[in-house]
Amino acid sequence: MENCFKERMVTWCEETRCSDESFVAGAFEKDQRAIVRLFFLKSGLSGQVFLRCEGRTALITGGTKGIGFETARILLSFGMNVIIGSNSSSAESEKCLLKLRSLCPKSKVEIWYVDLKSMSSVKAFAEKYLHSGLPLHILINNAGIMFAPHEITEDGFESHMAVNYFSHCLLTKLLLPVIKQSGSSKCKSRIINVTSCLHFLSQIDFTDLNSLNSYCPHHSYMQSKLCLVMFTLSLNRFLKSSNCPVLVHCLHPGVIYTNLYKHIWWAKYLGPILFQKPEIGGEVTVYAALSANLETVGGKYIEEYGEVKPSNYSKDSESQSRLWNETWKLLQPWCDEIDDIPSDVSSE
Ligand SMILES: NC(=O)c1ccc[n+]([C@@H]2O[C@H](COP(=O)([O-])OP(=O)(O)OC[C@H]3O[C@@H](n4cnc5c(N)ncnc54)[C@H](OP(=O)(O)O)[C@@H]3O)[C@@H](O)[C@H]2O)c1
Repeated sequence: MENCFKERMVTWCEETRCSDESFVAGAFEKDQRAIVRLFFLKSGLSGQVFLRCEGRTALITGGTKGIGFETARILLSFGMNVIIGSNSSSAESEKCLLKLRSLCPKSKVEIWYVDLKSMSSVKAFAEKYLHSGLPLHILINNAGIMFAPHEITEDGFESHMAVNYFSHCLLTKLLLPVIKQSGSSKCKSRIINVTSCLHFLSQIDFTDLNSLNSYCPHHSYMQSKLCLVMFTLSLNRFLKSSNCPVLVHCLHPGVIYTNLYKHIWWAKYLGPILFQKPEIGGEVTVYAALSANLETVGGKYIEEYGEVKPSNYSKDSESQSRLWNETWKLLQPWCDEIDDIPSDVSSE
């Protein structure tokens, strides 16, 4: 199945290779509904220019549900090849594949198993990707959990930090060679981190990063999302200084009614009325992943369809540097070498 998929993708890439690297959203016909929504959701998007998608490959974590599912659906409707990293059961994955293929009939999509609570699972998943020979133009670190009960994973990480932050750092680091290779100066690869506006309320507790001494689910969630913003800024600075054709952005997808709220008792009553639909979150994520507006400079934090300044704390270079060093120290057991990761990114 995988081999067959790869062959189909390669043929497709060759057939659709194009020298023009972008397209105007208004002229795109495959997903009129999404485009019309992009037009009307907020003014200023009319005629939005996106990078060309045909033959390009995206990888998204947590793409079988919620915002991730909608992101995958829009990317597929734009003609991208999509790999979804998911811990869903095979029955759930099969159901999701059938749905995506019925919504986007010619889509090239696969779901591969990964449990982001386990760094060994992340490593095995990344190795499978590297061995597949597929290019990787867009990596979307989307999967997440919120306000979950206290759990320390087999690797010694608090579960929000494991799923939302550490797993995505490790995945990004292990896939960096293929991400770099897939980008060009004309059309850079992108790493997109789905974070949250709740990062504004957080600071990092470096004395107890993994909540081993005390636990507050709200603190852990917000801290994991703040870490993702800081990782975005540090990684983008590092890639820029090494002249890599890769940009890193992060985003808040909106307040969207999804399974993420399963630990908040009132959300099932008020969420459907007060919150937005997953489609909106998918569109904001696709905007960060493909908008030509975001092609020149990386390290942006996106809310709705525009750039917003992230929290002052997230921009603090000393804290960024401390988090960066701590992160790679803790992830060292799953990295064969970390020579390509500089120890100090604050001054890059
Ligand atoms: N919804 C919002 O209002 C909102 C606001 C700000 C930020 N966000 C962020 O948006 C992202 C997507 O959230 P969502 O609202 O779409 O929530 P969701 O519907 O619950 O989707 C989360 C996805 O992550 C996956 N996931 C969770 N634990 C995993 C694990 N251990 N291994 C692999 N995959 C795992 C889930 O798969 P399973 O269910 O199969 O475990 C699911 O596919 C999250 O990062 C979230 O923090 C959402």
